[in-house]
Amino acid sequence: MEIREAIAERRSTRAFTEREVTREELYEILRAGIMAPSACNMQSWHFYVVAGEERGKLRGVCADWVAEAPLTIIVCTDRSAIEARFGERAKKFAVQDTALAMENMLLAATGLGLGGCVIGAYDQDACAVSFGIPEHHHVVALLPIGEPREKIPPRERKPLEDVVTFVGGQKNF
Ligand SMILES: Cc1cc2nc3c(=O)[nH]c(=O)nc-3n(C[C@H](O)[C@H](O)[C@H](O)COP(=O)(O)O)c2cc1C
Repeated sequence: MEIREAIAERRSTRAFTEREVTREELYEILRAGIMAPSACNMQSWHFYVVAGEERGKLRGVCADWVAEAPLTIIVCTDRSAIEARFGERAKKFAVQDTALAMENMLLAATGLGLGGCVIGAYDQDACAVSFGIPEHHHVVALLPIGEPREKIPPRERKPLEDVVTFVGGQKNF
């Protein structure tokens, strides 16, 4: 799939078929994640892949439907190295790194005919405890992935005029 098509076709997907995500697909998605740009290429991310029976532990951590996805990637910042270098600013860098990795993974999933959704609403402590996530890995989002159960219409976007301010530049913008 062409990149423009993947950007246009990606939808937040919250209902999945029973079809498993294959190992090849999962690795393609994870590789797309780590191809994202990151501050000083420090790649301050860590991913936990939750599949099989372990998915049950997602109940109580976030919305129940997430546990129905064939797999969920728990996206964490790993700030140990980046914090040593950048101090307080590392927090922002690490979150930016993971955000870019997530979009790459969602686009890769779209290219494979799969879908996913960024989940920002989850219980931070319950998530860390349920999956044995150590303190230096800070969970920033969950990313359930699977085959969409139905075609999802696009959600409306604000018009560009509302969200873009041009500062100087060429006349033909
Ligand atoms: C930071 C962030 C947090 C989000 N958290 C949730 C969430 O907790 N639950 C959910 O169902 N969708 C969540 N979403 C998905 C958004 O609702 C979705 O991206 C938005 O409605 C636009 O729809 P689209 O992604 O299909 O274009 C989140 C998205 C982002 C970027």
